[in-house]
Amino acid sequence: MNYIHKIYDYFIDYFIDLSTNLKKYDISKYGFLPEKCVTDLPTDFVYITNLLKLFDDSQYKKIIQDLDLQKQPDLEILNFCQLKYLYSILSMIIHRYMWNNLDNIISELPHHIGMLFVDVAKKINIVPCLTHASVDLYNWKLIDETIPFSLDNITTINTMILDKDSSHESWFYLIMIAIEGIGGDAIIAMEKIYKELYKYYPSYSIITEELHKINNIIFESNKIISRIYEKCDPEVFYNKLRIFLNGTNNSLFKNGLQIRNTDIILSYTGGSGAQSSLIQLYDIFFSIKHNCKFLDDMRNYMPKIHSEYLTYAETRNTIKNFLSNNHLSTDECIEITKLFNMCIKNLTKFRSNHRKLIMDYIMKFVKENTENKGTGGSNPIEFTTELLNTTISSKINRC
Ligand code: HEM
Repeated sequence: MNYIHKIYDYFIDYFIDLSTNLKKYDISKYGFLPEKCVTDLPTDFVYITNLLKLFDDSQYKKIIQDLDLQKQPDLEILNFCQLKYLYSILSMIIHRYMWNNLDNIISELPHHIGMLFVDVAKKINIVPCLTHASVDLYNWKLIDETIPFSLDNITTINTMILDKDSSHESWFYLIMIAIEGIGGDAIIAMEKIYKELYKYYPSYSIITEELHKINNIIFESNKIISRIYEKCDPEVFYNKLRIFLNGTNNSLFKNGLQIRNTDIILSYTGGSGAQSSLIQLYDIFFSIKHNCKFLDDMRNYMPKIHSEYLTYAETRNTIKNFLSNNHLSTDECIEITKLFNMCIKNLTKFRSNHRKLIMDYIMKFVKENTENKGTGGSNPIEFTTELLNTTISSKINRC
């Protein structure tokens, strides 16, 4: 045993603080979800929150257009959490405004609301578009604060659909929110493993224990994704909600969407689960390399700090690499490989469950000879089949 190496390992144990690392990347105990979302804003912004509750679509359009006569509120008075909430609300207001009359697609976005959106998005370092962050990450609260986070103890703050079908929209978001939230413990487990992988003598028991935890969390995520059928009806999703999730770089907005009286053009893909940093983090951690431009592009739709965490994760040591250069006994190596492959198996199941959702919630309704596009603009079945195959082939064949 080399004592210098041992001292180095002690140094890592005592001086690498996991929570500081995670805080730096705006990661909470619920992972990429904030620990708590703000649910209201100072009075200067109440006119914006009120728009969310306005049922009458023609009145809604007129009020948004008339806002152009009004002065912009001061964003400086908002803290970071309030800015995230304002971003979330504006994304919903603007996407409802854009998509609520398909027979009369708008040609430009009113100045007041458009500029407010651009400015708030800039302040929190994210694109001015409806994203997974705006409708999921920043749009939830605990039902009962005295009991733990779980799918059954969370609710959304806002929805774009305001009639009886709003519960379907809410459930669609809640499924993603729950998967992100339970992922917080998986991120902590990954950080603990990464810490071991820095060492000369990584602890076998910590690595196996933490891999077990990650595997259980992916297993739980599979149960959660399958629960979407309970309260999100495929017809409501396809005919009513999906349109609102679309962005501004599709066939209806050939040149994007200009903000009135400016030369700013919004041209962005819509919201998509592909913008989840957690799922991309699982891929990085388990060395699943998709080589997929669409997934790379989706990083531009994540909060910038989260995509930076993914870039950082890509520079770190991997379990695969560790297994090929280590001081483990054969039994230990076999056990880690087994756990690693169990995680891959559960991730494969996750992707296969997800592909079934695409069949049930989209493909079933797509008429022949029309474009089978997902909200993110990809051909969903071909795309997800490829990702599924790469996931399967990422298992370790032998120790
Ligand atoms: C009704 C439910 C869902 C439908 C219809 C659906 C549809 C789609 C579609 C069409 C894509 C292809 C990319 C695009 O066009 O946006 C996609 C990608 C993706 N979705 Fe979903 N999705 C659903 C639920 C979820 C949930 C609950 C999650 C959980 C986080 C999720 C995570 C992802 C991820 C990570 C991708 C990127 C592909 C991958 O990494 O496997 N989706 N989804």
